[in-house]
Amino acid sequence: MKLPYAEPFKIKMVETIRKSTKEERIKWIEEAKYNLFNLKSEQVFVDLLTDSGTGAMSDKQWSEMMLGDESYAGASSYYKMKEAIKKILGFDYFLPTHQGRAAENVLFSVLVKEGDIVPGNAHFDTTKGHIEFRKAEAVDCTIEEAYDIDNMHPFKGNVDIEKLDKVIAENTDRVQFIIVTITCNSSGGQPVSIENLREVRKIADKYNKLVIYDSARFAENAYFIKLREPEFKDKSIKEIVLEMFKYADAMTMSSKKDAIVNMGGFIAMKSKELFQQASVFNIMFEGFISYGGMSGRDMNALAQGLHESTEFDYLEARIEQVAYLGKRLTEMGIPVQKPYGGHAIFIDANKVLPQMPKEEYRAQTLAVELYIEAGVRGVEIGTILADRDPVTGLDRFPKNEFVRLAIPRRVYTNNHMDYVAVALANVFERRNEIKHGFKIIYEAPILRHFTVQLERVEG
Ligand code: F0G
Repeated sequence: MKLPYAEPFKIKMVETIRKSTKEERIKWIEEAKYNLFNLKSEQVFVDLLTDSGTGAMSDKQWSEMMLGDESYAGASSYYKMKEAIKKILGFDYFLPTHQGRAAENVLFSVLVKEGDIVPGNAHFDTTKGHIEFRKAEAVDCTIEEAYDIDNMHPFKGNVDIEKLDKVIAENTDRVQFIIVTITCNSSGGQPVSIENLREVRKIADKYNKLVIYDSARFAENAYFIKLREPEFKDKSIKEIVLEMFKYADAMTMSSKKDAIVNMGGFIAMKSKELFQQASVFNIMFEGFISYGGMSGRDMNALAQGLHESTEFDYLEARIEQVAYLGKRLTEMGIPVQKPYGGHAIFIDANKVLPQMPKEEYRAQTLAVELYIEAGVRGVEIGTILADRDPVTGLDRFPKNEFVRLAIPRRVYTNNHMDYVAVALANVFERRNEIKHGFKIIYEAPILRHFTVQLERVEG
């Protein structure tokens, strides 16, 4: 028999998590104005809100914390991070930032101006936020297959090359760069193939534009390439990562994902000129160019995390655990995005709650029900997250209305996954009794999902 995968680590320290009663959860979620971000973490049993900054660092990463050099300028930790970025990702220049959206803020201060168009594959919400904040427009060019949850296309993060070409051809002067998100979070943690990255590069060269990767989950993307793109089946993850980044001019990174640290980010680039331009904004917004919002110890842990996250055995255990949850839900008849993503399982709330008015936020309703059922916290990736259309001021109904269950790295066991699956199955069984959802009583003008306040719509 073929041996199954197993985690390439054992556990040295544990953190207690607490169960609660349904009555407590009903009270807590009402007090939280039905916004899962407002819950206290101790009110949650299994926390699948995000895989961002919630991973468990290794003993080697914790050792690196002790070796951090906190010098203001020229710290050895900065050079450790520089070396890891050059070796693993292939970039000569980089700027540390405090997290991914800070990298977007700094880089877009150089590259985005009012009236611009930024084409890409389902931009993440902070990316879109930083584009729209500058009165520019994010145009989604993801392949159509991405939005059909049962379509087994192996690379549902891919960019539709014809659409991309058309958008740039019609707006050549308004486009400065193309942004490719690897893996594509918004379409379900779905990978982008090397073949597609090469084609994006060709289009960029045709119009003389830059290519930027939003790289939060680049290592998970490389794992899928190894498994699904025949050209790369015998290559190591580290070789595939270098090949991926060969076709990019620059990258933004939220290190809270695939560098397995709790906080941190960076921008990396090949051009010295872009580095110099971005350095001005980094110094203004983040800190001096050799720390940019990060402590020396955090830069050390980040460098070590980049080495660990690009190991095959780590990635296999990580992504197989996500797939394990996906398989359990599929067995129970629950509609989820397939193939299963790299960091999360995405449940199609339109298919679970079709009887509910979509104006009452189906995915948010399902996420609240799951919390009440078992203290499991997921997150809405649907209409609330999509914000209002900046022009019409109306709700934007995205093609998919998802509840995302994001799995933190190296944190939960498959018993937790079973617990989540049964909790969701219980909600699924009584789905026809759920007739109404929520109305908004407070919302911010941008990125409203973080602070939105809701009230139940009574039937
Ligand atoms: N890009 C992608 C693809 C992301 O998923 C995120 C964050 C960011 C950029 C921004 O990075 O949080 O470090 O500022 N995603 C988290 C999530 C928040 O839950 O998916 P950040």
